[in-house]
Amino acid sequence: MTSIEILSPAAAEAALPDLAALLHACVLDGASIGFVLPFALPEAEAFWRDGLPALQSGARRLLVARDDGRIVGSTQVGLAGPPNGRHRAEITKVLVHPDARRRGLGRALMLKAEAIAAADGRSLLILDTRSDDAGEALYRSPGYAVTGVVPDYACSPRGVPEACTFMHKRL
Ligand SMILES: CC(C)(COP(=O)(O)OP(=O)(O)OC[C@H]1O[C@@H](n2cnc3c(N)ncnc32)[C@H](O)[C@@H]1OP(=O)(O)O)[C@@H](O)C(=O)NCCC(=O)NCCS
Repeated sequence: MTSIEILSPAAAEAALPDLAALLHACVLDGASIGFVLPFALPEAEAFWRDGLPALQSGARRLLVARDDGRIVGSTQVGLAGPPNGRHRAEITKVLVHPDARRRGLGRALMLKAEAIAAADGRSLLILDTRSDDAGEALYRSPGYAVTGVVPDYACSPRGVPEACTFMHKRL
């Protein structure tokens, strides 16, 4: 059975090894999500550990998708921002384990992330993804518009600069 849930900061800390395994598997599978090879599990766990203060302050919410209890997906909703930007939220790192893809989990995570942003009074969502990637297809389907494309924005896991598509959606 699959489910989508918000992880409390304490639950996120307890789940650090599982979250690290998810991130590690995605990067080794080729996902361009901020890391380059070689990418070891401790680096993946450090990413999540470094994010705990933002969860604790409420600046960010962490969602996970579970498959029979196992974490197989995640995303984050950034709710911080300067005083003139409190109407927008940023969705980051939508991840689904390579073994669990094309079963609707990415879309379910996006829908829940949007519901969280709306409940917090946010009316504009922003995100970005490697151009022409699965992420761009995922975001286009629930109505995100392309804001623009920046060439050579970020390196792939193998260190090759690639274009990034910035997208937005009004709620
Ligand atoms: C992008 C990602 C999260 C999609 O997760 P997923 O659970 O497989 O996505 P879903 O099954 O919910 O797919 C929803 C829709 O997105 C689109 N889509 C998803 N993966 C796709 C792919 N590989 N190719 C083309 N379209 C794709 C399709 O429109 C799909 O609808 P459909 O299955 O009815 O055709 C997953 O591939 C992933 O984790 N990739 C690595 C991390 C990453 O790049 N994240 C995005 C940038 S941060």
